[in-house]
Amino acid sequence: FQPKLLAGRRVLITAGPTFEAIDPVRGITNLSSGKMGFAIARAAQEAGAQVTLVAGPVHLPTPRHVQRIDVRSAQQMHDAVLPQAAAHDVFVATAAVADWRPATLAEHKIKKDGTQRVPSFEMTENPDILAAVARLPDRPYCVGFAAESQDLARHAREKLVRKNVPLVVGNLGPATFGRDDNTLLLVDAHGEREIATADKLGLARELVREIATRL
Ligand code: C5P
Repeated sequence: FQPKLLAGRRVLITAGPTFEAIDPVRGITNLSSGKMGFAIARAAQEAGAQVTLVAGPVHLPTPRHVQRIDVRSAQQMHDAVLPQAAAHDVFVATAAVADWRPATLAEHKIKKDGTQRVPSFEMTENPDILAAVARLPDRPYCVGFAAESQDLARHAREKLVRKNVPLVVGNLGPATFGRDDNTLLLVDAHGEREIATADKLGLARELVREIATRL
């Protein structure tokens, strides 16, 4: 039995990777299955919240009674999130947003030109969606994620400060990518707490409980 800890609350979640097009058939992306974000969406909905899920390109079914908005690029994700962020009580940024995108999008497929020349691409920075939401004057309670391959606690704490958010959830990637289980490290101003290895839905339910106590 799950008590309705988030009854009457609105929760906004980003999930999955973003895809940054180079030309009509190519692009760069980050590795993310979207499973953690979708599990959090389901757990928040089960806890009584009204949930909006902004998803990059993933192959996952929409959790029951969750409003889903599909996007592709970081800019699209930003533009879907920002106008409605302040109308939510909680924002959970699980998406693996590409930090950079090609500065220009080629209208047609870039062809091999018959020489040994390989193309090179100028990159430009994508907006930081979490930091932008955290800067809103009437911001929701913001939760960031940190996928790191080493020094998880240090990196998570650094994000807490740099993005000015009250809670960062670390997971040790890339071993976790696409898997059904995970271990989370909750980092806030008071300290650290580990949520032991479990399936992502179990972790999501525990995380939702933690968030609910902080509202
Ligand atoms: O910036 P960094 O990737 O270290 O931080 C990760 C956290 O910031 C995650 O919560 C991720 O969803 C969020 N993020 C974002 N927009 C970006 C980059 C990261 O919302 N452009």
